[in-house]
Amino acid sequence: MGLSPNQITLWTFHSPPVTDREKVEAGLSYEEREKAARFHFDVDRHRYGFFHMTMRNLLASVLPITVRPEELHLIPGEFGKPTLRDFPEVHFNLTHSKDLAALAVCTAGPVGLDLEMIDPEFPVREIAREYFVGGERAAIDHAPDDSERTNRFFQLWTAKEAVMKVTGLGMNLEPRSIELALDPATARPTGFHHIAGFPTASVDWKLRVRAVEAAAVLSLVYPSCVTSVAYSTDTDLSEGGKK
Ligand SMILES: CC(C)(COP(=O)(O)OP(=O)(O)OC[C@H]1O[C@@H](n2cnc3c(N)ncnc32)[C@H](O)[C@@H]1OP(=O)(O)O)[C@@H](O)C(=O)NCCC(=O)NCCS
Repeated sequence: MGLSPNQITLWTFHSPPVTDREKVEAGLSYEEREKAARFHFDVDRHRYGFFHMTMRNLLASVLPITVRPEELHLIPGEFGKPTLRDFPEVHFNLTHSKDLAALAVCTAGPVGLDLEMIDPEFPVREIAREYFVGGERAAIDHAPDDSERTNRFFQLWTAKEAVMKVTGLGMNLEPRSIELALDPATARPTGFHHIAGFPTASVDWKLRVRAVEAAAVLSLVYPSCVTSVAYSTDTDLSEGGKK
């Protein structure tokens, strides 16, 4: 499968409870094996290995030439965002939360992706007061009930993180320096009012926020010229082979 110029391919996939450890390790680079070995808990080591092996398999599946997934050179940028050394035109971003991960790939320009499991116990008012601005805070304060407040919070939070990730700055871009534009009826984030350090005219991105399964939210920031998002789950992958 190749990549269409005006399309993003987005996969979500789960880490299974049990995997063949040797197979996973064989699908990683030396650096990833070293990093996996440093996790304190087995569950974290296992998920990290599975997510990175799957990311490599998916990236290799869309490249124009045949490359062994474990031999792809992933190079971290200045603030940690990985790129493909030998395929700089292929932009991608990975995100994971508990046993679920997502990967977005496109050739139109950088992408940023964030996934979070919705946690009904999360202290959303306090965190919103610290990290949200303007209409974002109002959306939390004036939510009709706690469940809607929590949903709104995770939509806004993931949208901000997806912005932090599309720029490659990660945590070096302050959450408060991003002001999202919200739909006045639903308070759902639809775009950007202001991103400090990025003049409005240079912000040529779209934002898409979607629910994933029953309890997760995914935000994707991607180049404005992209006209479609092709979405696949791990069920599609296992039923249809490599898509
Ligand atoms: C990069 C960052 C944004 C990732 O946050 P995260 O939600 O913990 O992690 P995600 O699962 O979404 O993404 C991790 C992946 O992003 C990629 N990544 C790493 N650095 C990145 C960067 N600077 N930019 C984009 N992507 C990056 C890597 O592939 C990483 O995968 P790995 O850890 O398995 O190697 C990080 O800087 C961070 O910790 N942010 C949280 C800070 C915060 O205060 N957020 C408040 C929002 S309101």
